[in-house]
Amino acid sequence: MDRANVTVVDHPLVQHKLTLMRRAETSTANFRRLLGELSALLAYEVLRDMPMHEVTIETPLETMQSRLIDGKKLCLVSILRAGSGILDGFLAIVPGARVGHIGLYRDPKTLQAVEYYFKMPPELDERDVIVVDPMLATGHSAVAAVSRIKETKPRSIKFVCLLAAPEGIDTFTKAHPDVPVFTAAVDRCLNDHGYILPGLGDAGDRIFGTK
Ligand code: URA
Repeated sequence: MDRANVTVVDHPLVQHKLTLMRRAETSTANFRRLLGELSALLAYEVLRDMPMHEVTIETPLETMQSRLIDGKKLCLVSILRAGSGILDGFLAIVPGARVGHIGLYRDPKTLQAVEYYFKMPPELDERDVIVVDPMLATGHSAVAAVSRIKETKPRSIKFVCLLAAPEGIDTFTKAHPDVPVFTAAVDRCLNDHGYILPGLGDAGDRIFGTK
């Protein structure tokens, strides 16, 4: 597996929260809260190279030049529906970011990802895009989402998940070697139903309390 473009955010706070989220007995409310907190910690690492500009400000004592990021240049793209959990954590850190959504389902006959929803902010060619989806499992929906977003020619693109399977990383990095991947952990493998092992179950069900 080529992991050159994969960053595992191996910070104690991230790993602690991930352990709590993995536990089967963690409630929906706690799972959702932990995902928000953990995503905000991932955002800290993912946004490390964000462009900044200088502004002149007045402190209570004098004038100074200081730096700001331009949140409007950032576009967070959530893959429906589980992406919204990571999205909320990122928006807590960069509230000015623009947001796009992409919806995909798997055709049961062809097993290909089929798009049913695509709504992006304008002028993506001037924005840095961060695609978010908690589970990089087979990688098929992530590959399809990023391929579709690339058609809009964003200035840059990154992919952020909570958990990745080695199979998903392989598929994704082969299809999009130019797109950096950020994750809190790389788990062992996929099971026969495409679930990550040991994983945390169905992320959407755990965020929304469905099932
Ligand atoms: N999607 C999930 O929600 N969980 C998995 O383990 C794999 C895909």
